[in-house]
Amino acid sequence: MLAGKRILLIIGGGIAAYKSLELIRRLKERGAAVTPVLTRAAQEFVTPLSVSALAGEKAYTDLFDLTDEAEMGHINLSRVADLIVVAPATADLMAKMAGGHADDLASTLLMATDTPVMIAPAMNVRMWEHAATRRNLATLKGDGIRVVGPDKGDMACGEFGPGRMAEPGEIVEAVQAALTDGPLKGKRILVTSGPTHEPIDPVRYIANRSSGAQGTAIAAALASLGAEVVFITGPADTPPPEGVDVIAVQSAAQMLEAVESALPVNAGVFAAAVADWRVKRESGSKIKKQDGELPVLEFAENPDILAQVSAMKAGRPRLVVGFAAETDDVIANATAKRKRKGCDWILANDVSPETGIMGGEENAVHLISESGVEDWPRMGKSEVARKLAERIAQALA
Ligand code: C5P
Repeated sequence: MLAGKRILLIIGGGIAAYKSLELIRRLKERGAAVTPVLTRAAQEFVTPLSVSALAGEKAYTDLFDLTDEAEMGHINLSRVADLIVVAPATADLMAKMAGGHADDLASTLLMATDTPVMIAPAMNVRMWEHAATRRNLATLKGDGIRVVGPDKGDMACGEFGPGRMAEPGEIVEAVQAALTDGPLKGKRILVTSGPTHEPIDPVRYIANRSSGAQGTAIAAALASLGAEVVFITGPADTPPPEGVDVIAVQSAAQMLEAVESALPVNAGVFAAAVADWRVKRESGSKIKKQDGELPVLEFAENPDILAQVSAMKAGRPRLVVGFAAETDDVIANATAKRKRKGCDWILANDVSPETGIMGGEENAVHLISESGVEDWPRMGKSEVARKLAERIAQALA
């Protein structure tokens, strides 16, 4: 619930602005108070009247409105909220934020505030993928701004791809997570999860049986303790949890890239079952069956994401947690793996088929750290996740 919370909602000028009306309704349903602000461009898409009617409050539009300055200066307006949400955050608004501009009410509020900020980007796929937007996004993340979405899908401009604003329900969950008080409030934690798919040709790939269940449960448990979670997932069976920033990838190389751009974080939990090898030369066209000839696949080693992050000289997360799925000599192998990878903790489990752990509901793990081995009893994957999240909270306190 969001009772007693105030959201300052900055509506940017994009076609997705129509979704901000639904967003206001959903936030109010949860008990939040919403102070709306519209940029000049936003007013071309939605009217201050409809925004204000839904919010049940004045909609602010102008920096130089003297009455507003008398009633509530822009500095004050930016600080009374528990959270500032920018939805839709257009490419232009993101650029202004990253550059520190303050030439209208919205950008001035964002500059003047000491309140946490969340953005829901929405723009054409080319604009989203443009190098300038990539740079601005990295800057904003580095400044501690939370990002929800964008989603992939059909866009109003007729193109398909990432750039669609997250749905109002998703944004509300992210707001709820951002305002959840807990021991991990203010901490940004990265979780990798699921398998990776390593392409052979446009229709075939190499995969593994990871369901993503444990990684998903860990991300949910960390978010419920108030952490800002960046959830980088391969193509998993388990749907991602609500209230986390989901980055969907396919291959190990893409996962590494996503991890690098999610940094800095306070902690990283590397639960993904990353493929050890990829096909050295992915075929650009479907490999054809040829009489009597078998295709030969040459492999190349994938980057070890956990080892690379663990070895970082500058900006290494304070706590790096890896997993070891073993079928024999679990503790000995996992202990050696912790040293080899350079991570702080390893959660080791026995994934021999007879344990039913891979793809199952339960897990029996051992927490291996510098100070030794701790055996946890067999329990549900969500309980393992809760216990791990609590331990992480203690370690980061
Ligand atoms: O596959 P392996 O047993 O080496 O995995 C151990 C740990 O290393 C896991 O936490 C996994 O997420 C991580 N890993 C990784 N990148 C790889 C291989 C494994 O991050 N290429």
